[in-house]
Amino acid sequence: MDLLKRLTEIDAPSGREDMVYSLIADMAKELGYEVTTDGLGSVIAHKKGDGKKLMLAAHTDEIGVIVNYIDDNGFIHFSAIGGLYKKELQKRRVRFKNGTVGIIAADEDVFEKTQEINKMYIDIGAKDREEAERLVQIGDTAVFDGAFCLSGDTVISKALDDRVGCYILLKAMKNIKDSDNDLYFVFTSQEEVGIRGAKTSAFTVMPDFAIAVDVTDTGDTPDAPKSDVRLGGGAAIKAMDRSVMCDVGVVKTLKKLAQDNAIPYTTEIMTDGGTDAGAIALTGGGVKTGGISVPVRYIHSPSELAKISDINACIDLLTKACEYNWQI
Ligand code: CO
Ligand code: ZN
Repeated sequence: MDLLKRLTEIDAPSGREDMVYSLIADMAKELGYEVTTDGLGSVIAHKKGDGKKLMLAAHTDEIGVIVNYIDDNGFIHFSAIGGLYKKELQKRRVRFKNGTVGIIAADEDVFEKTQEINKMYIDIGAKDREEAERLVQIGDTAVFDGAFCLSGDTVISKALDDRVGCYILLKAMKNIKDSDNDLYFVFTSQEEVGIRGAKTSAFTVMPDFAIAVDVTDTGDTPDAPKSDVRLGGGAAIKAMDRSVMCDVGVVKTLKKLAQDNAIPYTTEIMTDGGTDAGAIALTGGGVKTGGISVPVRYIHSPSELAKISDINACIDLLTKACEYNWQI
C-alpha cells in the first residue's frame, strides 16, 4: 500500500501532473518498459508483442481549484478544475503547490441555496492583497487536503480517483507473466476536465482493444441509487457510463476471465460521469473498449473510500486481461 499512498499524496490537478508522470515513468522504466510521453503529457509505457495492440489506461490528474482573482482584503477567488460538489465545499481545506493551505468559505446561504462558486473564496489568513500575493498568484492551482489512511481493509484518501487506477496498472505491469499482446499502459492526463489525455494518447497508440481503469460509484450507501456495484464486491466490470457503451465482446471476455480465475466482480452501469473509455472508443474508426472499475464511495471528496480486496481483484483481473490472447 506504500505505493498507493505515495501516488495519492502527490498534488496534481489536471494539467499540473508532472510529479505523477515522473514517478510513474521511473517505475515503468525499472520494470523494463519503453516509456514515451505525448504532447498533453500522458505517459505511454510499451512492451512489444506480436499479438493485438492492447491499451490499458488510467488517468493521473485529480480535481482541484484555480485562482482567478485576489481581492483587496486578501481573499482568493477561484474556479473549479473538474467536477466539484459545490454544496460540500464549505470549510474544506485546499493546498497550493508551495504548501500554502487555505479554507473555502462563503456566506452560509451560498452553500445551502445557490452554490455559486463566484461567491465563495479561499481564506489563507492573509491580512490584505499584498500579503496574499506573496504566497499565491492568479493561475495557481490547489487540491483538496485529504490524508491517506489505512484502517484494516479500508483505504480513505483524496485522489483515489484515479491514482488507484495508476496503482492497478503499475501492479499489473509487474505481475504479467506471459503475454503475446502488444501492450501499451497509458497514464492519461486531464481526464477530469473532459477526457483529454486519453483522446490524444489513443490516437498515438491506435489500439485494437482497450480497457480503462477508473473508480465508480457504489450502490450500497443508504441514499444511493440501486446498483450491483458495492464495496467488497470485487472488480466492477463496466457495461456503460455516460461516455461509452462498452464493447459486448470485451465485457464478455472480462467476465469470463473473472469467472475462470475466481475473481469476484459486479457489473457497472455508471449514469453520473464519463471515463477515458469514452474517448478511446471514439478513436480512429472506433476501438473495442471496456472498463474495470474500483468501487469507491464519496468520489470527488477528500475522503474517497475503497476496499483493498476490491483493488486487488482489479489488479488480478487486469493482469489476466493482459495475458489473454485477444482476437478480433
Ligand atoms: Co473523477
Ligand atoms: Zn476518474
